[in-house]
Order: sequence, then structure tokens, then C-alpha cells
Amino acid sequence: MFDVSKIREDFPILKRLVHGKPLAYLDTAASAQKPKQVIEAQREFEENSYANVHRGIHTLSENATALFEKARNTIADFLGSNDSGEIVFVRNATEGINLIAYSWGESNIAAGDEILVTRMEHHANFVPWLRITQKQNAKLVIAELTSSGELDLEDFSRKLSKKTRVIAITLMSNVLGTINPIENIVEMVKRNYATNLDSFPLIVIDAAQAVPHFKVNVKTLECDALVFSGHKLYGPTGIGVLWMKKKLLDDMPPFLVGGQMIRTVYNDRVEYNDVPWKFEAGTPDITGAIGLATAIQYLKTLGIDAIFEHEKGITAYALEKMRSLKDLTLFGPPNPEKRGGLLSFVHKTLHAHDIASLLDEEGIAIRAGHHCTMPLHAKLEVAATARASFGIYTTKEEVEIFYNVLKHIIKRFA
Ligand SMILES: Cc1ncc(COP(=O)(O)O)c(C=O)c1O
Repeated sequence: MFDVSKIREDFPILKRLVHGKPLAYLDTAASAQKPKQVIEAQREFEENSYANVHRGIHTLSENATALFEKARNTIADFLGSNDSGEIVFVRNATEGINLIAYSWGESNIAAGDEILVTRMEHHANFVPWLRITQKQNAKLVIAELTSSGELDLEDFSRKLSKKTRVIAITLMSNVLGTINPIENIVEMVKRNYATNLDSFPLIVIDAAQAVPHFKVNVKTLECDALVFSGHKLYGPTGIGVLWMKKKLLDDMPPFLVGGQMIRTVYNDRVEYNDVPWKFEAGTPDITGAIGLATAIQYLKTLGIDAIFEHEKGITAYALEKMRSLKDLTLFGPPNPEKRGGLLSFVHKTLHAHDIASLLDEEGIAIRAGHHCTMPLHAKLEVAATARASFGIYTTKEEVEIFYNVLKHIIKRFA
């Protein structure tokens, strides 16, 4: 049974007051709060087993290395990979995509090639590709959206060309909430490969918003690479994951160089370590990796499918309530089945930042701005949107409070 009040007891921060009001944290898409199990696991490691990894022969270092590598196994299993060598620890999703764009991109993208992204990409899955296309004299192509905020598959298909070398796409939009049909896209690529494409493009998935909400399996998705951040998955900041097919990782040059990632260093040359360590230069965030693995175990105990059902219910409820508010435009698919747990909106006359500030006075935390999706906001012809986002600890009561306060704000200030 998915018991939200019991889950909330695991999150100490949810007990605090903001401006004297109980906190309603509706900003989980920006960063999720941490359960005490994660906080405890990190404290326990630092108090009792802390040492650097892969370096010492002493007991603590061996303990730390075992825990760090166990965390890697937990993450591989979480993503449906049977090889932990495909899991590279990075700082966050942004770094993961930069790693691919730099290490794979510099040796595989040539002048005239195209990289296909979508209009709904976060800057993290847009700017690294824009930069590599500019550097290699290639072209960034943007697939557009339908009026309901879904990927326009016809436009996508039109833009898939012989020159497409990379398809970089988010699994769930951080503004529209849209869940993209990756399976359909892969099918489309396969069909085109038989007839129209010269080479099979690299398929890169930004799963930063997806993994906290629903089951993500790299085998089912049939992608080549996938990234996410620990902090959006109820884990710590400073740790993220790049999953990439082993063969690709083996063939790629390293991203950062220095300690840990080498096998032997000579005066004039270097032999690199095996993957994944080849891509983990310097001391990694050991505590972060252990915290992230603990967060994953925690979510598994709740049940990922149960999490999705809970959040779908909350989103459907929020959508239904918000639709009744005057002069409000809601973004993203109207069908809650096609979206994850967040809701972005604008008001006809009230600025998103003002709405967020006024809600904050009542203890309600939402986010306002371009949410690192300026190309999308430009297309929507809005400078900023307000976004309420939900998680495992969100209750219908919080949505109700949010709705009532928003209604009051509109009545009073619009
Ligand atoms: C869809 C999406 N991709 C990537 C990112 C980047 O995550 P990070 O800042 O942790 O690298 C975010 C963060 O908001 C996001 O929502």
C-alpha cells in the first residue's frame, strides 16, 4: 500500500514551517527532498567507513571501494543493465550529456552531419549539442511540438535524414510534463535505417525527469546512452549517472584526464584504465554514490509503478482543479496518462515570478522562470512559466491548498 503520510515521516524537511505556514513543497522537479534513509546512509558511511576508493590497500579503503562499486551495481540493476561497467558516475545529467557530446561527438560528428533534438529539451540536452555542431561545422535540427505540447512525430520523421548522427531527446519534459514515446521513435529510426538513413544514429536519452516518476529500462528503450541526476531522484546533489553501451564507451576517448582514469603513465604517453573508470578522473563523489544507491533502494521499496500511479492521481487532480481558474493557460498534454508529475502555467496578467513569490508567503514552494528551456519558452511566446511539481510525498491536500491560494491571488491581484 502506498501510504503517503508514512512516506512523509521519512522526510524531516517536510515538517518545517515557511513564513509560519506548513511547507507545501511543490518543486520536486527542480530537486527532490531527501528521505532520512539517504541522509543516514551518507552519515553512517562518513562516520564509519570513509576512505578514498581504488587507492589504498587498507581496510577502510577496501570497504569504501566495495560500497562504491556496490552502488554502481544497484544503479545498473535499476536501469535494467546487466553490466555495471556501463555505469559512469558523473556530477549530474548535464555533465553526462557533455561527456557524450565531447568524447563521442568530437570523433564522430563531421561537417554537414545533423543532430536532431526536440523543442522541449532542457538546456542540458541542447547547449552541448549546439556547441559540438558549431565546433564541427555540423547542424542542430529541432523537431517541433503539437499544439498540445507533444512531440510532433510527423515533423520528427521529416527531419530525420541521411545526415542525422545523433538523436538527443528527453524522456519527460521538465516544463510540459510530456512523456515522449521513445519506442515509437526507435521504430521510426529502424524503418528509416532500412530505406533512408546511411548510418544508425546514436540515441541519447535525457532521463533526468523520468527516473523519479516511472520505470526506465535501457533495454526496452533500445537507446545508446541515458543520463540522470541523483538529486532529482531523492538522492544527493553532486552525483549523476551516464549509462552508455559498453562498446561505445570502450571506443570513446576520455572526457577528463588525470588520476584514477589511467592504467600506466609514461613520460610521453598514457594507457587508460578500463571503462567505466576511464571516464572517472579524480576522486569521485563516493558518499554521493552511496546516497544515490540508498535512494534507489528506498524507491524500489515503495514500488516504482506505485509511485507512478500516485503521481498520476495527483497530476490529474491538479489539472482538473487548475482548469477551472480564470485566465490561466496550462501547458502540456491535457491527458494525464501522457504526462508525469508536474504542471506549468501562465496567467494572463500576473507574472509567473509574482505568483511564485505570493505562494511562497503562504509556505508553498513552486518554481518560476524559463526552467532552462529558453527555445521552448520562445516558441510558446512566454518569457516565464510557473511550475508546480509533485513527488512521492505530495498529497492531494497540498494541491488543494495550492489551488485555493492561487485562486485567492488571482482574485486579489489580477
Ligand atoms: C529534463 C532535464 N534534463 C536535464 C536537467 C539537468 O539536470 P542537472 O542540473 O542536475 O544536471 C534537468 C534539470 O532540471 C531537467 O529537468
